[in-house]
Amino acid sequence: MDASSSSFLSAIQTSKLLTGTMAMTIPKSAVTTTPSFLSRHLPSLNVSSVRIEEKPQNSTTRPTTSRTSRPASSTTTLPAATKPTPSTRKSPANDRRVVEPNQPTMMFNVLEGVINNFIDPPLRQSVDPRYVLSDNFAPVDELPPTECEVIHGSLPSCLDGAYIRNGPNPQYLPRGPYHLFDGDGMLHSIRISQGKATLCSRYVKTYKYTMERDAGAPLLPNVFSGFNGLAASAARGALSAARILAGQFNPANGIGLANTSLAYFGNRLYALGESDLPYAVRLTSNGDIETLGRHDFDRKLLMSMTAHPKVDLETGEAFAFRYGPVPPFLTYFHFDGNGNKQPDVPIFSMTRPSFLHDFGISSKYAIFADIQIGMNPMEMIFGGGSPVGSDPAKVSRLGIIPRYATDESEMKWFDVPGFNIIHAINAWDEEDAVVILAPNILSVEHTLERMDLIHALVEKVRIDLKTGIVTRNPVSARNLDFGVINPAYLGKKNRFVYAAIGDPMPKISGVVKLDVSKGERQECTVASRIFGPRCYGGEPFFVAREPENPEAEEDDGYVVSYVHDEIAGESKFLVMDAKSPGLDIVAAVRLPRRVPYGFHGLFVKESDLKKL
Ligand SMILES: [Fe+2]
Repeated sequence: MDASSSSFLSAIQTSKLLTGTMAMTIPKSAVTTTPSFLSRHLPSLNVSSVRIEEKPQNSTTRPTTSRTSRPASSTTTLPAATKPTPSTRKSPANDRRVVEPNQPTMMFNVLEGVINNFIDPPLRQSVDPRYVLSDNFAPVDELPPTECEVIHGSLPSCLDGAYIRNGPNPQYLPRGPYHLFDGDGMLHSIRISQGKATLCSRYVKTYKYTMERDAGAPLLPNVFSGFNGLAASAARGALSAARILAGQFNPANGIGLANTSLAYFGNRLYALGESDLPYAVRLTSNGDIETLGRHDFDRKLLMSMTAHPKVDLETGEAFAFRYGPVPPFLTYFHFDGNGNKQPDVPIFSMTRPSFLHDFGISSKYAIFADIQIGMNPMEMIFGGGSPVGSDPAKVSRLGIIPRYATDESEMKWFDVPGFNIIHAINAWDEEDAVVILAPNILSVEHTLERMDLIHALVEKVRIDLKTGIVTRNPVSARNLDFGVINPAYLGKKNRFVYAAIGDPMPKISGVVKLDVSKGERQECTVASRIFGPRCYGGEPFFVAREPENPEAEEDDGYVVSYVHDEIAGESKFLVMDAKSPGLDIVAAVRLPRRVPYGFHGLFVKESDLKKL
């Protein structure tokens, strides 16, 4: 599971920011010298690379960075980095300069310290950076393209391109509450050519990242951890409103993190986070990663888009949606084969805001899950709990709408009690039925607060569109998520699934291969690999050995993933033979620097990289 309900959270946060007041009592002791929150909230972590905001060397006020006007193209170029001054230093390894925060920034930071120290309730484990950023969840610096060593086997020739994985990597060490989903997006790309590999790690240069880098301090609110009871929520709302009025940031430019996933369609590669527009990125010829800008598809895409668009490799089309806290709570849309966005299809039959992180696409339909997880406003404000919560009284349902619908008139909803999916693996059509394959979160009440208690059971759900009968079959008893397939089978009946073993979530101890064509009431695991003691990976990704060969078997290819050894402190890139019963490792690449645990990844072949 990953960054999830940030779409409606960010919208609510923004409205709170704009309506918040400046009324706040500041204890005199708090506005003194070194804020005590630094010592209170600096976790005892093994972090040597992440930035801690700089203290001022003098009282010089730096000029604020002006926003660029919207260019003619639909990719918005971000504010240029502030020209280096004598007060800035440039690191040779990346573009992260040490910047002195100006006086307003320092003043607002002191106020934030007051909130962290005196208003926040005690930190829950889910937002305590000492837990959230422990082990290999700790952030790293950027890494320029660096050659890697193949330490086992050899890299298959079909791996000609780049495996790129997204994930949270906070630019600044958190001063207060921090949730795993609040980190700035960082892409870790391993580019493979002629059996050689090059690793590069770069932040997605979002508006948030860029403004905060240039300011030398965090400015924008943390959406997932910013709600901590009524007083702290109100105080943070007021502080953010003050920052906006002071011109420190403009929420109209998006406050998204682009930390969740990647997608390639319309000859463009995007870094995605569902609370904002996609950010177009590209790989340079030497393996470096560049952010091209925030992309609004000729001003046709508003506000946000799911981080899980479905790309049909046959047609080149991409299918997507956005959701939010105000009607329509769900809006469906797609892009044609050239990447042009088609008109919105608002779904008003979704009658309350729900947590919609992913969906399914078959050849004929789009399938949405209206689950028991949604906004939890009372607990969020008065209880000091998570902004997202479960409603045990709600009956989950699946909504099925024609793939090319222009309105929701043909959409049908089917009750599927207790079916709470965060991710979908695949969907397909069977005569008069639709089948969706997805991990069902059994312990739905732990969605955001206690991921370690989550158990996800992969189910095959068949809906007879004529009779309305819903048939459900679990395909494995294991705790599985991050399930992927051969990408060529999107929307078609597939047999094989590769899924990550949560042990416990969000740590991934291994990968399994499922054969979902097996009969009912059977464990469908046909192959597995456990990474070893204190070795954890992430979402697997399947790369076909002969992607252009229509006769190739579905599982003829390789499963790849980054894996980290917490004992040795070393990360590797593993290539596993998808057809072998032990998911045998055919190649292991020692990475020159650790890659933190993250979310979703993508393999982009060289011929597609050249189009960017
Ligand atoms: Fe996800």
